[in-house]
Amino acid sequence: MKAIVYTKYGPPDVLQLKEVEKPAPRDDEVLIKVHAASVNSWDWDLLRGTPFLARLGGLLKPKYKILGADIAGRIEAVGRNAKQFQPGDEVFGDISGCSWGGFAEYVCARENALALKPASMKFEEAAAVPAAAISALQGLRNKGQIQPGQKVLINGASGGVGTFAVQIAKYFGAEVTGVCSTRNLDMVRSIGADRVVDYTKEDFTKSGQSYDLILAVAGYHPISAYKRALSPKGIYVMCGGSNAQMFQGLLLGPWISMIGNKKMVALSAKPNKEDLVFIQELVEAGKVVPVIDRRYPLSQVAEAIRYLEKGHAQGKVVITVKHNNSK
Ligand SMILES: NC(=O)c1ccc[n+]([C@@H]2O[C@H](COP(=O)([O-])OP(=O)(O)OC[C@H]3O[C@@H](n4cnc5c(N)ncnc54)[C@H](OP(=O)(O)O)[C@@H]3O)[C@@H](O)[C@H]2O)c1
Repeated sequence: MKAIVYTKYGPPDVLQLKEVEKPAPRDDEVLIKVHAASVNSWDWDLLRGTPFLARLGGLLKPKYKILGADIAGRIEAVGRNAKQFQPGDEVFGDISGCSWGGFAEYVCARENALALKPASMKFEEAAAVPAAAISALQGLRNKGQIQPGQKVLINGASGGVGTFAVQIAKYFGAEVTGVCSTRNLDMVRSIGADRVVDYTKEDFTKSGQSYDLILAVAGYHPISAYKRALSPKGIYVMCGGSNAQMFQGLLLGPWISMIGNKKMVALSAKPNKEDLVFIQELVEAGKVVPVIDRRYPLSQVAEAIRYLEKGHAQGKVVITVKHNNSK
């Protein structure tokens, strides 16, 4: 089968399209014919081996030779103990908790990483969903304890996680403000934001407005500025953004939370079946729709990662996997 392989840490140039052996499922796994995948920041973390934590699996060379966590495809074979799916089932999921490998024509994964693909969705739409949507869900619901009627602000509302966060916060009944740049204002409004703030013209932390929950996905503001923009019992959830934003969230957040009623917490999203099914139901109910920016063929995964790394994707970047003699 064809796959995008790397054997040493480095820039996207180290990725190579190669013929490799088609995997066979272990007893608790299924074999999936991949029709689409999507790219996440974790792909480039593992590709470059930075930050250093990304090397925990392999200090000098990568543990997993094929990247790609988000996939959608058709079950081709099932292991002896795999009971949830049948050959022919169309599935999607985040397989980063298994052995990665989504940038390939076939991959094996444990059943618990997968759910049935919403019937109304194309493979490439489904592949755009899992990791980003689950991160947004866990940030808003688990860490942010989102409640109906709350004022919620998403900083970085136009990217992969942000576009899901806006829609999921609306689903939970929040009044949502999305922060993005001028070119994305209409798109962020179109997915449900009640208000938009153009970060190129206005600093929301200085506007005098306060929010019950802030999810920081992109950009940078000092943690003290986020604290200022919180309502008296507000919660700040650091999801991503610049290194400085992430370090402040991780290191200072717990200390600031000990003083007063405002909470400053960091998200570490983990794929799990329950949340994937929750998202699947939201998608099927039409409450959440993936925003797809660009599509690249499997042979151009390096290009896709280069594009995502620039930090200005509008929604998700998807990889399409074409097979000979098949749909
Ligand atoms: N903690 C966790 O468990 C977890 C889970 C998932 C992701 N993450 C992290 O979350 C971050 C975002 O992931 P993603 O996939 O959503 O990234 P992404 O798709 O690359 O985000 C790109 C978006 O960010 C916007 N943006 C850039 N600078 C901004 C700024 N100063 N203010 C507001 N928006 C800005 C861009 O809009 P413009 O083009 O208009 O600038 C673009 O639409 C990454 O750092 C990732 O590592 C963390």
